[in-house]
Amino acid sequence: MKNILFAAAFALLAGCTSGSRTPIATETLKSPDGNLEMRFELTEGGAPRYSLDYKGKSTILPSGLGFEFRGEKPQLVFGAEIEKGKDGTPVQFHEGFVMENAERGTFDETWEPVWGEESEIRNHYNELAVTLRQTASDRVMTIRFRLYNDGLGFRYEFPEQKNLQYFVITNELTQFAMAGDHKAFWIPGDYDTQEYDYVESRLSEIRGLMQQAITPNSSQTPFSATGVQTSLQMKTDDGLYINIHEAALEDYSCMHLDLDDRNMVFTSHLTPDVNGYMAYMQTPCHTPWRTVQVSDDAREILSSRLVLNLNDPCAYEDVSWIRPVKYVGVWWEMITGKSSWAYADINSVKLGETDYSKLQPNGIHGANNENVRRYIDFAAEHGFDQVLVEGWNEGWEDWFGFTKDYVFDFVTPYPDFDIKALNDYAHSKGVRLMMHHETSSSVRNYERHLDAAYDLMNKYGYNSVKSGYVGDIIPRGEHHYGQWMVNHYLHALKKAADHKIMVNAHEAVRPTGLCRTYPNLIGNESARGTEYQAFGGTKPHHVTILPFTRLNGGPMDYTPGIFMMDVEKLNPNNKSHVNSTLCNQMALYMTLYSPLQMAADLPEHYEAYMDAFQFIKDVAVDWSESRYLLAEPGDYVVVARKAKESGLWFVGGVTDENRRTLEFPLDFLEKDRTYTAKIYADAADTDYQTNPQAYTIYTKDVTSEDTLSIDCARGGGFAISFE
Ligand code: NOJ
Ligand code: CA
Repeated sequence: MKNILFAAAFALLAGCTSGSRTPIATETLKSPDGNLEMRFELTEGGAPRYSLDYKGKSTILPSGLGFEFRGEKPQLVFGAEIEKGKDGTPVQFHEGFVMENAERGTFDETWEPVWGEESEIRNHYNELAVTLRQTASDRVMTIRFRLYNDGLGFRYEFPEQKNLQYFVITNELTQFAMAGDHKAFWIPGDYDTQEYDYVESRLSEIRGLMQQAITPNSSQTPFSATGVQTSLQMKTDDGLYINIHEAALEDYSCMHLDLDDRNMVFTSHLTPDVNGYMAYMQTPCHTPWRTVQVSDDAREILSSRLVLNLNDPCAYEDVSWIRPVKYVGVWWEMITGKSSWAYADINSVKLGETDYSKLQPNGIHGANNENVRRYIDFAAEHGFDQVLVEGWNEGWEDWFGFTKDYVFDFVTPYPDFDIKALNDYAHSKGVRLMMHHETSSSVRNYERHLDAAYDLMNKYGYNSVKSGYVGDIIPRGEHHYGQWMVNHYLHALKKAADHKIMVNAHEAVRPTGLCRTYPNLIGNESARGTEYQAFGGTKPHHVTILPFTRLNGGPMDYTPGIFMMDVEKLNPNNKSHVNSTLCNQMALYMTLYSPLQMAADLPEHYEAYMDAFQFIKDVAVDWSESRYLLAEPGDYVVVARKAKESGLWFVGGVTDENRRTLEFPLDFLEKDRTYTAKIYADAADTDYQTNPQAYTIYTKDVTSEDTLSIDCARGGGFAISFE
């Protein structure tokens, strides 16, 4: 159902005089609804600037655009040939420009995602592309701006040209100048982890809070005292919600933001490679989109599809093999320390011994035949599609912490994991196993084994893989969010598509909407997931911030559904506590959208709360419509969604560490019909710290005229299914 209304682009000249170049130029662009206005100008010195207003309020003050490239100087190669090499004077590519032309256009289409929060997405924007020539170097660059009703996207494009062919970016100088000392929901800028707890503070407080934001004893290393990650959510004193992120990150390094906290100006901070370079380019090429979403209604940030819209349409012709997945797994028991990924007793491991049957088993290996069968039975009985099994393959005895290159081969099962029999057993019950590829960040080792690893999956009928990148990257010196790794993640994803395999990559670079183009990317972790509830706990407000930040670029494999909050019950040596109520856990299936949802707890913990577990069994994972009913970052989120297949409505809501009553209208329901709402809510005495597992379930007849009012405990939430 495409409705393309593409308006012809027309060349317009800068500054108004026909055909001539002029040192000072101004162009403005409005969003289709007129609420947003972007102003582009070239200063007297030929430096490009842009600014953005929302309903007449300054959102981005005049901000710089441009780059610094590696300087090149002639070098001797093999004693004779002359080649251009590094270390010359850096090239400044942010001033001295004249405007060559400005092209405008309008675009309006509706597209259908393979899976998503809705079955149709409107992509409607006005565009301005300014082409600039740096006179001294005789090099050109186009800056393309797309202004939507929900925000701005812009990127730099470098056409093929004589004076710019190969170049190395040493700095991207994109600025986002804030109009005030806004409140921000941030995590420290880091090249290798995103798994931080969020901090809610004024921009001016980031510097003082940075050290506290780092988990004690961790290897997390923020790159500066004011550097933060995107997607960054902010709120101004007069109630504007501003979000900065990027879209379509391909063949470039991931952008962080460095804050000049005297002037409240963010500057892009790219992830460097081992040599300190940010991106290796060859024209024609372009950067990812830089995005600024803005609204005076927080719910519109959550329903914004700007990041997806800035990505290319689906690259695959056949997508019939891509489908949402609800799964359980042999996982939480390892995370809590109840069982292990490793098979052998570490003391029995002899250097050079490769025959695992000669090693002493440690007695707590989770991925053993009997235990996996137990999960398969549970999945089949309760209607789950898949069973993730981690620790199925050799290598876990010393997988992590030694920067070891050849850890896993991704094809050799441990002696107590019968890969054929278990897959056959699962298939006989209508369930599939989910593959696990922990790379331990030895990425070149993974790439060497990738074909064989995917072939093995095809052979045994796996159609999805959870991959992981724990530890320092090999090639040594590369970072998780650098260009080299960005290219690796996409390589693994495209290759998986050749094998009709869906991918859920943990520790990979934060998503930027690439799932539109490559919809077999059904999940990513790329933030602090449920596992941290077993590593000391996570703050309750976390789940009210993730939808505004991490989820902006694509779905998260958060792995909700923990019903036993006392981790000590699983492992007496683990004193961690899950900082959430049982109903908050259920609500996450709604509030943290993903086409890939896990019921992460152990079968016995669900068996103890079968009436509550019913919601996790019932809730859909693919939607035709989503309505954000209430939202405030750091405080609460309530969303209603209509299941794509059954047409049934579900609602979920979460609060932060404060008890609160959430009241919302049911006007999304069909008029003149009576529905029975089954409400799973915190009980009067529920509290995430002292009484997290208490809940109440009741039904209520409702119509679209009604308003529901539900009390949430501290760290609580609710879930509702409508019939
Ligand atoms: C970290 C992942 O986030 C977690 O889900 C996984 O179990 C471990 N790595 C081991 O691969
Ligand atoms: Ca992780």
